[in-house]
Amino acid sequence: MSVITESATCAPTRTDARSTGPGALLPVVGAATRVPLIDGSTRTYANLDSAASAPALEAVAARVTEVLPLYASVHRGAGYLSQVSTALYEASRHTIERFVGAREDDLAIITRNTTDALNLLAGCVPPGGKVLVLDVEHHANLLPWQRLNATVLPFEDTVAGTLEALARELATTSYALVATTGASNVTGEALPIDDVVRLAHDAGARVVVDGAQLVPHRGFSLAETGADYVAFSGHKTYAPFGAGALVGRRDWLDEGTPYLAGGGAVKHVRVDRTLWTTAPARHEAGSPNVIGAIALAEACETLAALPDGALEAHERELRLLLVGGLVAIDGVEVVRIWADSVEPIGVVTFNVAGHDPGLVAAYLAAEHGIGVRDGKFCAHPLLARLGVPAGAVRASIGVGTDAETVDRLLVGVRAYLADGPTATYEVVDGCWTVQNDPRPLLELHGLSALAGTAAACA
Ligand code: ALA
Repeated sequence: MSVITESATCAPTRTDARSTGPGALLPVVGAATRVPLIDGSTRTYANLDSAASAPALEAVAARVTEVLPLYASVHRGAGYLSQVSTALYEASRHTIERFVGAREDDLAIITRNTTDALNLLAGCVPPGGKVLVLDVEHHANLLPWQRLNATVLPFEDTVAGTLEALARELATTSYALVATTGASNVTGEALPIDDVVRLAHDAGARVVVDGAQLVPHRGFSLAETGADYVAFSGHKTYAPFGAGALVGRRDWLDEGTPYLAGGGAVKHVRVDRTLWTTAPARHEAGSPNVIGAIALAEACETLAALPDGALEAHERELRLLLVGGLVAIDGVEVVRIWADSVEPIGVVTFNVAGHDPGLVAAYLAAEHGIGVRDGKFCAHPLLARLGVPAGAVRASIGVGTDAETVDRLLVGVRAYLADGPTATYEVVDGCWTVQNDPRPLLELHGLSALAGTAAACA
């Protein structure tokens, strides 16, 4: 298995510099933010990195502004605003549950993000329960299970073959849990969740879906898929205020090891012994992220209010423009896991043959004002299996993306190959950077008081 070049036949080849495709689906904060280029000019930031962290929806920012004057301690204050904040926090939990189709016995635990949620669930797998996971996963859905000595099943060349391998493994060994991605953060692909759930449940195993990418890009329903748990992140769901969620079956969460030991997670404490309470409080010790939960709930409501199919249609159109444009460029290879997977979400990873992905990404940023991610995307085993162990470039689409932004990437990649970089680039501390970079980092936006904070590379 290695790099598969996607077919251009399903998409128009774009050679024009101007876009005629869709605009943004929803307004996001920062859509008009300008960034400096190395030639001294500025351009509107072409944000193609929503899969890493998506900008806040304007609706989310407005909601946060609205509730901040009401913010006070939750669960423990007698004051009026404490009661308002508690009510808002608990209402947010229920909104989040509804958004992912929670069943009657399911509950949401407010976490920091997907990684946090999956680590939490790892502490709730019944003792001795075996976990099965494929090697396509993001580290967030691999390392918590690796700690439990999970079986890591290699993916096969096709979706059908991989499902057969999964079925064979489930027939051989008794598993408590199958952990599967809802959509790969590298290629946007996934196994059909219904099939994974059927195979796992037939073998007596539960299923947790890493919904970090799927939930914001497509939505998800526990009730419809039959999956047992889903984890997702606010910072990828247009609510970057530090909250995520684990939603699913109550029993394991009521019994599992309390995720954090501390106040709020207990019924009674003596100096020698603690009686823990049940979920969700069992796993939410300490003061919770009230604003983060409210922000995430607002994002859920805003996405849920979109007309049926709007999210998919917007993303499909932009993804086709992006993939069609990339595969039409000589030397560009789009990475796929499976040749027979259906409609990946709007996450497209590619390489420019013979060119370091870090250099390509640094050039796109410095000379075109484009934000993509490069590297190994916290999925080292997958990248190694795909034959791109040194990494790749990833462009990802969100509700704030429009066709012009996609077009700018295509123009940038073509210009890179046609003309090469204008500046001199070098690797500093593992990151490709512009030598003597003239761009101000914080001064441009009046944040010079914070100067000295270093930018990190992927
Ligand atoms: N998991 C995030 C990504 O794939 C950070 O970029």
